[in-house]
Amino acid sequence: MTLLKVENLVKHFPVRINFVKALFTRERKKVHAVNGVSFEIEEGQTLGLVGESGSGKTTTGRLILKLEEPTAGRIFFAGKEITSLGAEEMRRLRREMQIIFQDPLASLNPYMRIGEAVRHPLVIHSIGENKRRQREMVIEMLERVNLRPAEEFYNRFPRQISGGQRQRVVIARALITRPKFVVADEAVAMLDVSVRSQLLKLMMDLKHEFNLTYLFITHDLATTKYICDRIAVMYLGRIVEEGSFKDIYTDPKHPYTRALISAVPEPDPKAGEKKKKLIPAGEVPNPIDPPSGCPFHPRCPYAKEVCKTAPPKLKELESGRRVACYLYS
Ligand SMILES: Nc1ncnc2c1ncn2[C@@H]1O[C@H](COP(=O)(O)OP(=O)(O)OP(=O)(O)O)[C@@H](O)[C@H]1O
Ligand SMILES: [Mg+2]
Repeated sequence: MTLLKVENLVKHFPVRINFVKALFTRERKKVHAVNGVSFEIEEGQTLGLVGESGSGKTTTGRLILKLEEPTAGRIFFAGKEITSLGAEEMRRLRREMQIIFQDPLASLNPYMRIGEAVRHPLVIHSIGENKRRQREMVIEMLERVNLRPAEEFYNRFPRQISGGQRQRVVIARALITRPKFVVADEAVAMLDVSVRSQLLKLMMDLKHEFNLTYLFITHDLATTKYICDRIAVMYLGRIVEEGSFKDIYTDPKHPYTRALISAVPEPDPKAGEKKKKLIPAGEVPNPIDPPSGCPFHPRCPYAKEVCKTAPPKLKELESGRRVACYLYS
């Protein structure tokens, strides 16, 4: 069953310009953060959304949870369109759709004890008969994310624990309402490598235990290895390629995906030396003035005339494999 589906999602942010300038120009510039993104996630699966900084990954995640209003496009959750749900309906639905952000310190109230932070969603959604029962549920969840002894962690403040432990708190808080769907936005990016793999393992275990579906957002392709079933590669607000984890890794089609894959560090340093690195030259263009045609054409070694004309459509090459590139049409 498809749990989440987005169709042609678009988000343009107005660019703030100063007042005097605004008087003399009729042009209203926009940041093209998300430019027609479509994908589906099957229940119980993890889709990795990968791309360089500024490609629109976070905006896509926020649009899905309606933390941001889409400029255009449609969002379906569990078969129901949620695009135009009101604030109250969305508030209720958030019990089933949660988001985990990159910086646990920023997403926790420094003056709230950890236990109370994890209990908070139970209060908001009126889950658990009374405070005692809610406390029990929190203790159970803290134990589940390996914050033991849980009673001790319950009373600590965010600054009194490590970064990895804080991210465990954030995960516990996100899962305490037993959501079906979780957006993890760079959830392990700020952690040390060793802590990172422990956290990824925890997220995998919890996924199986609670039958979760993840949208796993990362700029670091290497972290998708542990957790993603499928991968969608984003570039300047568009998905340029999508496929199973294995397809993307072993047979990348889009020149941008190929470059990303070649830049993933090799576990064997000797192999790394021999392998030619194809890190794309140049920077990601400014999404205020995205290039005409294919957004990648200014950096693409295979760019032809046609690539400057119109953006290539995301075309299905084979079942479950989509690529937006004129090399394949
Ligand atoms: N509220 C906003 N107002 C104006 N522009 C915005 C806003 N939010 C995001 N943007 C712009 O939209 C583009 C996409 O941003 P987004 O945060 O979605 O990218 P990202 O892929 O998550 O990047 P990163 O890897 O750095 O987190 C960027 O150019 C960003 O500056
Ligand atoms: Mg982001």
